[in-house]
Amino acid sequence: MKNGLEDVIAAETQLSDVDGEAGRLIIRGVSLDQIVSTATYESIAALLLDGPTERHFSLAEFGPRLGEMREHLFVHLTALDSAALGLPPVDAMRALIARLPDGDDFEAALRLLAAPAVFLPAIIRLQAGQEPLAPDGSLSQAADILRMLTGQLPSKEQTAALDAYLVTISDHGLNASTFAARVVTSTHAGLTSSVLAAISALKGPLHGGAPGPVLDMFDAIGTSANAHDWLSRALDRGERLMGFGHRIYRVRDPRADALKEALRPLVSAAQVDRDRIVLAEAVEHAALAILKERKPGRPLDVNVEFYTALLLDALGFPRGSFTGVFAIGRTVGWIAHAREQALEGRLIRPRSVYIGPVPQAA
Ligand code: ACO
Repeated sequence: MKNGLEDVIAAETQLSDVDGEAGRLIIRGVSLDQIVSTATYESIAALLLDGPTERHFSLAEFGPRLGEMREHLFVHLTALDSAALGLPPVDAMRALIARLPDGDDFEAALRLLAAPAVFLPAIIRLQAGQEPLAPDGSLSQAADILRMLTGQLPSKEQTAALDAYLVTISDHGLNASTFAARVVTSTHAGLTSSVLAAISALKGPLHGGAPGPVLDMFDAIGTSANAHDWLSRALDRGERLMGFGHRIYRVRDPRADALKEALRPLVSAAQVDRDRIVLAEAVEHAALAILKERKPGRPLDVNVEFYTALLLDALGFPRGSFTGVFAIGRTVGWIAHAREQALEGRLIRPRSVYIGPVPQAA
């Protein structure tokens, strides 16, 4: 048996390919580095849901329909009771999504793409004692998320940075949350159930829960001069360095570079804390040297979560909400995989090997 199902093939997909040796991510036949600076959330969603050649509707139609759905969903916030509002943002968001009907048609898919984009900014504002802001369906999904979060129309650099993030994390092979979504889909439970299972898998610190702790790490390190000693002591205590390592990548995670690049215009426009970027680069540099020395048999490099932390922080998301933002972007991957799995038509039902005691002969 493969511990953690490492290298086990459990699905065929036309959606994305993670090449761990080359450090390359292909989404529907296109390499991430080719599209990340120009694609928008809407274009990657249309690509993943309909494929390059079999579109059900034009991209020009998709954006407005998604915007309309965001406006329509705002009323669902009334279902957020004080118990749910006291939860971490991703859990409060999951609680609201759980109130949406299950379904497997395109309307259900659109609802699930819009829901986290509307619910998360509202939850963040409510938890900060502010009124939630209604969606503006005429904006792009990225611009509207930032406007609902801050109350101001975002700059073009900010919108582009969030689009780059949402594109970068839209799909990534058979990761834990996507596998969870496919398993639930195979039972015919419906898309809402698949997305809820996926969010639950995503929120763990070994998957999508890492970027908040990355910022905690920067805060604890404090200065570039302290990076080497702090990181060494963390490893001495047997801790893992958040934002480093990956099950498949044996070289640098290409998404980390995509996000580092997406940060540049924000840095040039002075819309980001430069000191933090300098510290992050020092941490990255020190960590890579220490990990190389301490784990010679295991190539470890930065993963997507390292630069996610810097980017989402620069855009004004509180660190406790980062996993929720990840869910906003990854939902389209989950849904695309769910639709693909539904075509397979077969229940996912592996076997286990029983290693417990056997009944004694009478
Ligand atoms: N810091 C220190 N050591 C590490 C790290 C790390 N971040 N990641 C792996 N290692 C070490 C392990 O301690 C282990 O060493 P050992 O063989 O001496 O015991 C070796 O590398 C292999 O580790 P595994 O647990 O087998 O690696 P796995 O493929 O299961 O883990 C994971 C991948 C979970 C991402 C891991 O690298 C990790 O915990 N990283 C930190 C958390 C993180 O950044 N999560 C976000 C992942 S990206 C994403 O899901 C979106």
